[in-house]
Amino acid sequence: MKYYITTPIYYVNNVATVGTAYTTIVCDVLARYHRLRGDDVLFTTGTDEHAERVLRLAREAGVDPKAYADPIAAQFVEDWRRLNISYDDFIRTTEPRQHRAVQAFFEAIYRNGDLYRGSYEGWYCVPDETFFAESELVNGRCPNPECGRPVEWVSEPAYFFRFSRYGERLLRHIEENPDWLVPDFRKNEVVSFIRGGLRDVCVTRQSTWGIPLPPSIPDSEGLVVYVWADALVNYLTCAGYPDDAEKFQRYWPADLHMMAKDIFTRFHATLWPAMLMSAGLPVPRQMAAHGYWTVAGEKISKSRSAKPPRPQPVLEEVVAATGCTVDRACDALRYYELREMTFGQDGDFSTEGLLRRYSDDLANDLGNLMHRVLPMIGRYRGGRVPAAQPPDPQLQAAARAAVEGWERGVERFDFRGGLEAIWSFLGAANRFVDQQAPWALAKAGAEAELDRVLYSAAEAIRIAALLVSPVMPSAADEMERQLGLRDWKRTWSQASQWGLLPGGTKTQQAAPLFPKAEVAAERPAGTKAERARGSATAADTGGRTMVSIKDFQRIDLRVGEVIAAEPVEGADKLLKLTVDIGDEQRTMVAGIALSYRAAELVGKKVVVVANLEPATIRGVRSEGMILAGWVKGDDRSITLISPERALPNGAKVT
Ligand code: MSP
Repeated sequence: MKYYITTPIYYVNNVATVGTAYTTIVCDVLARYHRLRGDDVLFTTGTDEHAERVLRLAREAGVDPKAYADPIAAQFVEDWRRLNISYDDFIRTTEPRQHRAVQAFFEAIYRNGDLYRGSYEGWYCVPDETFFAESELVNGRCPNPECGRPVEWVSEPAYFFRFSRYGERLLRHIEENPDWLVPDFRKNEVVSFIRGGLRDVCVTRQSTWGIPLPPSIPDSEGLVVYVWADALVNYLTCAGYPDDAEKFQRYWPADLHMMAKDIFTRFHATLWPAMLMSAGLPVPRQMAAHGYWTVAGEKISKSRSAKPPRPQPVLEEVVAATGCTVDRACDALRYYELREMTFGQDGDFSTEGLLRRYSDDLANDLGNLMHRVLPMIGRYRGGRVPAAQPPDPQLQAAARAAVEGWERGVERFDFRGGLEAIWSFLGAANRFVDQQAPWALAKAGAEAELDRVLYSAAEAIRIAALLVSPVMPSAADEMERQLGLRDWKRTWSQASQWGLLPGGTKTQQAAPLFPKAEVAAERPAGTKAERARGSATAADTGGRTMVSIKDFQRIDLRVGEVIAAEPVEGADKLLKLTVDIGDEQRTMVAGIALSYRAAELVGKKVVVVANLEPATIRGVRSEGMILAGWVKGDDRSITLISPERALPNGAKVT
């Protein structure tokens, strides 16, 4: 199957930010995932250069607008290379192929009677490159909530596109194709926009900067195509229009146009399909709008004066803070942006948040799995993966759930949910190692068992590398390299198969995949041998994960008192508790119902993890966790941990 996916083409009045990087990364992840599935992918991005703003900036700088755009376009190419973006085509609207496509497209809509000459009188927002009627302005300014800047009066001869003709057809298309526009709430916004009445749109500017209307359109001297009408056509150009009919036949219509909410309703979801309908071309299969990244709650749109974070300095910060390679920092940024943003909603970007994810999810969950299992294969099996073994049913089920969770996530653009599913699998793999305790098997000389456990754990790493590869391509390569898989050709179907890792594969000892900050800080100290002894000590703890005191201190443990308790409907193991932790009362869901009745808990003093991320369990929001001990696997042995002598509610436990 073919899969054609596009990013918006970015204006060249500024360079890439973590905002534009997000859209581009999301598309890259989808492109990589579809390639793994064997699809014939066309993934395109580029720069939108015929903006009025570029002309003005170039004039201010005293250079030709194309000369102004060149280094910025080159910087985008460089940033995307650094972020491991695997696009197939990077288009600049100043290229001759775009010139040909725009003119051919305008001829088509002109022939169809949808272009007429008149004169435009109204407002224009230069940063947004959008025409507005007086009635649309908000307090005399640009009505786009992402913009809100002053507008300029324009009065000039122009060509108009008969947008008003297409309202009914667009509404019908939306109704007949319920998944055409996502998310749903944006679709509703589009429907209201159309129902509010579509006015014909001015599609030219009187300017020297832009693509001229084709000579066959009369009285068009001095008029260039309006930057948006030009930019949207890039999607056709990249698919081969109008020169390469075979390519165009293969790839058009696009399968997905991806963008943020700012350019969805007015341009992509309405004007663009109407223009395509007019030109007699099929409309894209799907269009999706994600939210905006903010920084400390502030918008970071590119044309604003506030300095938005750029990807490269962010990567440098991650490298400085952790001692990882730039490639790994890039993986971490990609992971963070997908894991942290709920698709469709806004998200707040922070380097601290990124470093937290790095430490918790990448260094701990993923890194630990690697750096417990591979050294054990080294130690107990001379660095050779044991012969393939039958799967551990629980581990295999966890892998399956991860594959399904990711697939479901991608289908719904719920990358966060997809990654959570993969991380549950990593959790299961780490637990598997804990429970099977290969170090104990080695000590007891249980060789067959040890083979089984080591093989399963290594196979889990192979599957994990494949699962994370669309999001963290470079880390996945490194995981496979350390596992000893050379020239391994990944395909998505390998994630659902057990036993593909060949027995006898020679693993590679290597530096930590995602080093921890402490490791980076300690690195200069001690000889190599001393450091090696240090890691041997860690291994001697039975392969268990060591945490630093700093890590431990991040957990806010407090004394609490249960003041109410009740069963959770439909869940026989769960109780819903209200716990007083001194300065507040929290609701917590605890899986202790097989060991305690609700009534006997009231008044009990407990120890609470007070800074655990809230989670919704069976529809109840749980805002903390109560500590308990148990005999692993026996839900009836659960025993709450209580302070041995009286302590007030809220007292710190350290
Ligand atoms: N040139 C037009 C698009 C033409 S497409 C035919 C344009 N360019 S832009 O440079 O302003 O890019 C807008 C897009 O950049 C958004 O739709 C989004 O994809 C991305 N983002 C820019 N800032 C962003 C955030 N702060 N957060 C999320 N996405 C961001 O509009």
